[in-house]
Amino acid sequence: MAPWLLLLSLLGLLPGASPAPPHRAADARAREAAYPELLGPARFALEMYNRGRAAGTRAALGAVRGRVRRAGEGSLYSLKATLEEPPCNDPTVCQLPVSKKTLLCSFEVLDELGKHMLLRRDCGPVDTKVTGAGKPKDFTQGSALISPLFQPHSDDRNETLSSVLPLLNKDPLPQDFSVKMASIFKEFVTTYNRTYGTQEEAQWRLSVFSNNMVRAQKIQALDRGTAQYGITKFSDLTEEEFRAIYLNPLLKENRNKMMHLAKSIGDHAPPEWDWRTKGAVTNVKNQGMCGSCWAFSVTGNVEGQWFLKQGDLLSLSEQELLDCDKVDKACLGGLPSNAYLAIKNLGGLETEDDYSYSGHLQTCSFSAKKAKVYINDSVELSQNEQKLAAWLAKKGPISVAINAFGMQFYRRGISHPLRPLCSPWLIDHAVLLVGYGNRSGIPFWAIKNSWGTDWGEEGYYYLYRGSGACGVNAMASSAVVN
Ligand SMILES: *[C@@H]1O[C@H](CO)[C@@H](O)[C@H](O)[C@H]1NC(C)=O
Ligand SMILES: *[C@@H]1O[C@H](CO)[C@@H](O)[C@H](O)[C@H]1NC(C)=O
Ligand SMILES: *[C@@H]1O[C@H](CO)[C@@H](O)[C@H](O)[C@H]1NC(C)=O
Ligand SMILES: *[C@@H]1O[C@H](CO)[C@@H](O)[C@H](O)[C@H]1NC(C)=O
Repeated sequence: MAPWLLLLSLLGLLPGASPAPPHRAADARAREAAYPELLGPARFALEMYNRGRAAGTRAALGAVRGRVRRAGEGSLYSLKATLEEPPCNDPTVCQLPVSKKTLLCSFEVLDELGKHMLLRRDCGPVDTKVTGAGKPKDFTQGSALISPLFQPHSDDRNETLSSVLPLLNKDPLPQDFSVKMASIFKEFVTTYNRTYGTQEEAQWRLSVFSNNMVRAQKIQALDRGTAQYGITKFSDLTEEEFRAIYLNPLLKENRNKMMHLAKSIGDHAPPEWDWRTKGAVTNVKNQGMCGSCWAFSVTGNVEGQWFLKQGDLLSLSEQELLDCDKVDKACLGGLPSNAYLAIKNLGGLETEDDYSYSGHLQTCSFSAKKAKVYINDSVELSQNEQKLAAWLAKKGPISVAINAFGMQFYRRGISHPLRPLCSPWLIDHAVLLVGYGNRSGIPFWAIKNSWGTDWGEEGYYYLYRGSGACGVNAMASSAVVN
């Protein structure tokens, strides 16, 4: 199954995709729209999709299906469409040859007095087996296409879709939705000092922003912790852009490789622990527009290990790993297990000051003479969160990897997404556990992120502890300094 599809469905971002629960029938505001009525909005969405693409790489519209509801002065179209991207063999147009590709997109297009605005766009590749049903005629039987995606993972039984659905599509868009959005967006642009090259780009970013506000609201409605989601510095990026720039695709394809298990130190953990108050954690850093979270997670861990062994807190170089760890892929992602090996094989890590961060791949300029820190080994830790807590309190901050669901819009509080939304199988971000405790009776992990201090709680993320939330226990590891 395509997990991103499940996600979109759960968020109500796949219009018409639900297996028609009773509440939908009662929702008279939305109705199935006939194909000809959808063509205008669908062509507009396609035009937006193709904007900036070279001739010969533009997608064509396949099947379209959708619903419409009144929204203020206009109509809001919720479309599901397949787009066909042509093959490309012309090196002047595409760097690498690309074969023909089918995408499944969901769009929300607002039509106000004939003026169109794209509020949402989410596109992803379709499993070719599924697209067999891609002709308009078959496509109208959309529920058959979608229903396999609603089979929850076997350990997700308690949070199946039925518990989620009543929350979705309840709130109609307010009358003055687009006016309100424009004014909130203006504030965002000022707060985060955004500049856009053209009026068109600004208009597009406004529509992305509006879409994101709706997404953040849905994520908020579905959170079971105390987290608040809303405007962040990433609010004008599409989900695809955010994923491509800031997340780490290698984590979900590979797990940490060939590490031996740490010797158990039991599961007795103090009720709470925080390495930040004990001098073992450097300031929050910023990976910039580069998928280098893996390097920050590992240096954070080594900084802690070195501090605990040698009593000296040194800020260590991520750039050395980007440039010199040839197994990992710099800004395109990496694995902590490879990074530990690289540190060992290179002969240590230089400090941040000596080998500073540029956020892009450079030639390796590591010098063994300048290395201030070494490691002797690395270990994989238990998947039991009680044991992880015990290990952390005794041994130091832990490198972990998580599913970053919702983090694009996270502001504060303890995040606790429903399990199907934050599957442990879709890990895409490496971070550092630095502590744990309870806040108002809710157990949490305190997580050092690498997106700057102007994200989250001064750069930190708080995630529910005790249920393997977002896979936090799946890839825990540490360097060993003897
Ligand atoms: C579902 O929830 C109930 C009560 O909260 C619990 O006893 C049961 O073990 C849970 N089942 C699964 C499969 O998690
Ligand atoms: C805003 O951005 C511009 C251009 O990127 C920059 O020159 C300026 O210093 C920034 N201002 C603030 C307050 O960050
Ligand atoms: C933290 O919360 C959990 C679950 O509510 C509870 O079992 C535990 O005793 C609490 N721990 C502390 C130190 O309050
Ligand atoms: C750990 O590694 C360092 C640097 O490579 C080395 O000098 C030291 O002897 C090692 N310690 C042990 C116990 O192997």
